[in-house]
Amino acid sequence: MDTLYFNAVKQSEAGTKLGGGVIRAGGLVAFPTETVYGLGANGLDGAAVNRIFEAKGRPNDNPLILHIAKKSDLKELWKSVPEKARLLMDEFWPGPLTMVYLKSSRVPGEVSAGLDTVAVRMPANRTALALIRAAGVPIAAPSANLSGKPSPTSAEHVIEDMDGKIDVIIDGGSCAIGVESTVVSLMGGEVTILRPGGITREMLEAVVGPVSLSPAVLAPLKQGEAAPSPGMKYKHYAPDAEVIVGTGAPGDIAAKLIAEYEKREAGGQSCIIFATEETRRFYKGKRYVIIGERKNPITLCESLFAQFRANEGRADVILCEALPEADMGLAYMNRLLRSAGFKTI
Ligand code: TXA
Ligand code: MG
Repeated sequence: MDTLYFNAVKQSEAGTKLGGGVIRAGGLVAFPTETVYGLGANGLDGAAVNRIFEAKGRPNDNPLILHIAKKSDLKELWKSVPEKARLLMDEFWPGPLTMVYLKSSRVPGEVSAGLDTVAVRMPANRTALALIRAAGVPIAAPSANLSGKPSPTSAEHVIEDMDGKIDVIIDGGSCAIGVESTVVSLMGGEVTILRPGGITREMLEAVVGPVSLSPAVLAPLKQGEAAPSPGMKYKHYAPDAEVIVGTGAPGDIAAKLIAEYEKREAGGQSCIIFATEETRRFYKGKRYVIIGERKNPITLCESLFAQFRANEGRADVILCEALPEADMGLAYMNRLLRSAGFKTI
């Protein structure tokens, strides 16, 4: 298949109009959002949704997020809208917050992977919203990467993984947040974070009071433990290299990473350090890239996946710094620990 390419700046109308028609007709369109690129299909058409799983090589027991362009569309997709969901959507939509609750009968089983709940979000990206409006249906979309690869934060990443496999790619430049949306469950009258992201626990708690954190956010599932969110079961965001996370205070982290670097290089493995502005001085004479600032964790989130892709094939081992698990540091640590298969030193 030839994949059509549109630039969202120069060909915004043409791209979203044609893309909307392709979605309605059952095809696949990759599009930018404020978090990562999505791979979209008609969310009310089970056969179209199945094509997403095929193109990504995604296990079909991992449910998708429905993307809407109007808050009022939520009530068509859920059985009812809990009060806490109303408060959260008024505060954070459009934006990087996905909410999970009981699905209505309109949502095909392919979207929810057979669960009785469905995830919904309204993205804060003009191209994404224009595409959803042009399609006239909710768009089911996971991240537009091959299953197991880091999520794509630029159209180039999408082309790498999806060219020739999907109908359309709309290029909206680099994604501002760079990690996927926060996913919360509204089940049982509680708000539970299943995946941390751009809307932090602190921001959620300021609106709805105490919010719990699913234990699987920062630790591997125990053998035989049921996953509150199917995505937790899978090894995610894994680059080709071995990823190791150094923990502790910034100076201690650097010392640990350097010791590991020297040990591994002595053993014949090539290493690269994902350094930060604050710690770069510790790594003189070693091979490193600066991926952002510790004092501003969103800069690390923004570049983590792109750096994994950029360094593919360049090193056997990628050595990374842990951050405190507060604010955007929580989303960063969740992605980093999963990429590392929870390997820390
Ligand atoms: O930022 C994002 O959320 C991006 C953009 C494209 O919107 N999308 C994204 O989709 O990251 P995906 O499919 O890669 O991740 C969706 C996550 C998965 O971990 C999935 O298991 C979880 O949400 N999820 C979806 N529906 C769920 C449900 N009904 N119950 C629990 N978890 C659910
Ligand atoms: Mg994904």
